[in-house]
Amino acid sequence: MLILPGLIDPHTHLRVPGGEHKEDFATGTKAAVAGGITQILGMPNTNPPLATAEVLQATLATAAQDAYCDVGLFAGASPPVIEQLPSLAPYAVALKIYLNDTFGDLRVDDVPTLAACFATWPRDKIIAMHAEKQSVAVGIGLAAAYGRAVHFCHISRREEIELIAVAKARGLPVTCEVAPHHLFMTTADYERLGPLADMRPVLGTPSDVAALWEHLGETVDCIATDHAPHTLAEKRSATPPPGIAGLQTSLPLMLTAVKNGRLSLPRLLELMHDNPRRIFNLPAQPDTHIEVDDETPYTITNEAMHSKCGWTPFAGWEVVGRVHKVVLRNQTIYENGQFLDKAGQPFS
Ligand code: DOR
Ligand code: ZN
Ligand code: ZN
Repeated sequence: MLILPGLIDPHTHLRVPGGEHKEDFATGTKAAVAGGITQILGMPNTNPPLATAEVLQATLATAAQDAYCDVGLFAGASPPVIEQLPSLAPYAVALKIYLNDTFGDLRVDDVPTLAACFATWPRDKIIAMHAEKQSVAVGIGLAAAYGRAVHFCHISRREEIELIAVAKARGLPVTCEVAPHHLFMTTADYERLGPLADMRPVLGTPSDVAALWEHLGETVDCIATDHAPHTLAEKRSATPPPGIAGLQTSLPLMLTAVKNGRLSLPRLLELMHDNPRRIFNLPAQPDTHIEVDDETPYTITNEAMHSKCGWTPFAGWEVVGRVHKVVLRNQTIYENGQFLDKAGQPFS
């Protein structure tokens, strides 16, 4: 049995408020804990979005009641209320800017709003971006112009990771994360999964996936799930929303890669614990660990998923990395498939 620190997911969609039929704090954080994750950062593209102090405060209060692990939130940059941005900072760990279209209404594509974000968001809290293709160059340019750190979410393409490597070599303050689905699936999986494999960014070509693995040892800073649950009915509708669940499968997929010699266990811990904690300046979790079986193979099933959406694109995959026990601040909160205590705390 491996003993590891409680892992961190800096990119989760928990759907509170407004999307509770897809996920809520209880089901989302159960999926996290069953996947060995004890600290998560929730995304702001909810309905209404986490773009005012009132919505952020109310959402933190809900998390305090319902969460099984610790939860911090992103504030969302929203052009109509951008002048309120500094007032959101006390309730958020970081700012999220969406530069490309995805699920929800949050979107920034004018320079005055970007400038307001970089000029007014407090410097002690990082700015994260959903930026694809040439938007990555926009983010790097803003990091250079304002001399402040930018974190790129779910980088998925060769051209993007190579550009970030160039920016890092220049000493620019940029970091990035990669999602397991972009490491383990390609465009070929659309044939098998249809709309179930649709997400933003979309799945990459084999060359994109190879580039992510090539850069996993150095350029990539974090593994982030981009856990984005939608119901099967929604995914099979005429207008399927993009996104897949990922909290419960991230560690098993990555530990299976360790077993197959594709990365080392110390590197996994940098990507899933040390770097997210440092980049987002997250609170330490004393007396917290997980116990994981990294030897016995098992098959991922939809039935075993705790996410309210009840399905995973990885159903049928054989992996190692079943989590047996999770201890948060000296309290056993999960053991042999049972949830024992709701010990999650919100933080900002
Ligand atoms: O696939 C995605 N789904 N990408 C995003 O950026 C948003 C997410 C969601 O909220 O469903
Ligand atoms: Zn995104
Ligand atoms: Zn996301």
